Amino acid sequence: MDRRNSDLKDSWKQRHGALGNTRRSVLYKNFPEFLNNYIHASHVKFVLNQLPRSPRHVLDLGCGYGRISAEIQNVHPSAKLQGVELCDEFAEQFRRDLGDCASATIQEYVPTEQFDVILFVTVLMYVAPDEVAVNLARYWDALAPGGRLIVIEPCDNALIWLRKKTKARNISPTGGSLVHYFASDELGSHLDRLSGSRIIRKENFGLFPLLGVPRLHCGFSVEKAAHS
Ligand SMILES: C[S@@+](CC[C@H](N)C(=O)[O-])C[C@H]1O[C@@H](n2cnc3c(N)ncnc32)[C@H](O)[C@@H]1O
Repeated sequence: MDRRNSDLKDSWKQRHGALGNTRRSVLYKNFPEFLNNYIHASHVKFVLNQLPRSPRHVLDLGCGYGRISAEIQNVHPSAKLQGVELCDEFAEQFRRDLGDCASATIQEYVPTEQFDVILFVTVLMYVAPDEVAVNLARYWDALAPGGRLIVIEPCDNALIWLRKKTKARNISPTGGSLVHYFASDELGSHLDRLSGSRIIRKENFGLFPLLGVPRLHCGFSVEKAAHS
């Protein structure tokens, strides 16, 4: 594991020690509970709406303790869930509740099966910018034809603007200092370049329902052509 990921691993261990397996731990540590619950609900609605009718095999990359996978399991109990997670404590919780989880970085993990759903939810933001495209392409190869890649990551937003203006280090959205904020078109262009990809839904997640502002995250649902 490289230095960047080993620093991240330490900071997620500390964060888990302080906040446990909670939404605050994997969403916004400085937000009140009702706001994190609201953000959680909007992520879950997006993900559930974008799943195939009967998902069979779901790969949740940087799954945390299973915030999103648990909701998938509630609605689709027969779906097989596979997590990949850097923080051992989160990975253990995922294994206890939901299914297999590799204690590994997404850069190290090598998928040996095909999945009909692959999730990146607020994890690409921790990957070095020059490693994003190669890892998206690697996991795209593990997506079955006709499958769905679902990505939710922070894009340029008001909190980031504030952070840059004030140079405040503690406005980092989810903890850890090594975060990459995607420029508004950056993620979409990465996803467009995947072979046989079609972005079928893009949504901004903001604090005000319907308006999507101030923007916190962007969600993408990408379909892989059935014959690519
Ligand atoms: C903001 S949390 C999101 C967790 C989960 N996806 C969710 O939405 O609830 C980011 C997670 O990614 C994990 N993570 C960060 N970098 C990673 C990497 N390179 N490989 C695997 N997991 C990573 C962290 O340990 C943390 O659990």
